[in-house]
Amino acid sequence: MMGLVLGIETSCDETAASVVDEEFHVLSSVIESSIDQHRAFGGVVPELAGRAHVATIGPVVRRALSDAGLDPHDPKILGIAVTSGPGLIGSLLVGLSAAKAYALAWGVPFVGVNHLEGHLFAPLLESSDLEWPLTTLLVSGGHSLIVLQSGPGEHVVLGETIDDAAGEAYDKVARWLGLGYPGGPEIDHLAQTGTAGSLKLPRSMTGDDYDLSFSGLKTAVVRATEKQRDLPVADVAASFQAAVAEQLLRKLRRALEHHPVKGLALAGGVAANSALRSGVTELAQEFGVEVHLPTMAMCTDNAAMIAAAGTYRLRHDGPSTWDLSASPNWQLADVS
Ligand code: KG4
Ligand code: ZN
Repeated sequence: MMGLVLGIETSCDETAASVVDEEFHVLSSVIESSIDQHRAFGGVVPELAGRAHVATIGPVVRRALSDAGLDPHDPKILGIAVTSGPGLIGSLLVGLSAAKAYALAWGVPFVGVNHLEGHLFAPLLESSDLEWPLTTLLVSGGHSLIVLQSGPGEHVVLGETIDDAAGEAYDKVARWLGLGYPGGPEIDHLAQTGTAGSLKLPRSMTGDDYDLSFSGLKTAVVRATEKQRDLPVADVAASFQAAVAEQLLRKLRRALEHHPVKGLALAGGVAANSALRSGVTELAQEFGVEVHLPTMAMCTDNAAMIAAAGTYRLRHDGPSTWDLSASPNWQLADVS
């Protein structure tokens, strides 16, 4: 009988639960978001997110079990994986407490999973032909990293943002331009009809490393649009999008040149970006490596990726202990 793992994710504004089997087949994946409550504030309000998780976690877990054809207490569930960091402390604690309660009630082990490692497992859930080593660009509203993976759960962080995350910069620029939240999809959409060269933006992070930076770019957009107030918003969007993609692709190119790999993968919410998806596809073709572009559902926060990472961690490190607490600043580089 194939064992199953229940994944629970509550690190930000998504309350998610999923059942995944040992071969990483997704039996169910349920996601409820409190984003509508945060829109008016232009960003996630931690207090509101935490309260929403408390109200939603029970029904979301129940639905994940029933969608997978399972009863609560089902003996096929061998363990529970839960995001224990990084993320919003109040939100993490809701998922962690729920996971401990289910583990205690069902008599199964639980394991705390690093949310970023979860994102790295997302491509594994969709590509059965994945070959190692792999370079992954993980870009979301909270994180931006370039990671070299020699196998599942074996990773080295080549570089990361020294200030804002890529998605955060998208959201801030969108707010400045009077667009809605989250800003990434809106800017991406507008950029399709704009001219990228209209706004002169500086090339950032030209050094010989893999670190990223988006805060200067955001400030440059603000300064430039203050001077050129009549510039169409689509042109601003296209110029900003081109500058973000240029930096990310330049660093990825450098990574491919210095660390030969068999594949290139995207992960995180910004992986939905059209310029990034096409740029990464071209880069992979140029270097003759496989490209792995997860579907949108797998790019954004979900619990299937947490269940997959947890399956690996349970196997390799064993379960967490009952005194495990949430780690809001847990770095990927510190995952054992
Ligand atoms: O991974 P995610 O769902 O949540 C976390 O931050 O963990 O990522 C959300 C981020 C937001 O900042 C959003 O603006 C950005 O992903 N995003 C995009 C696009 N779609 C979502 N950024 C650029 N282009 C997009 N098409
Ligand atoms: Zn995420």
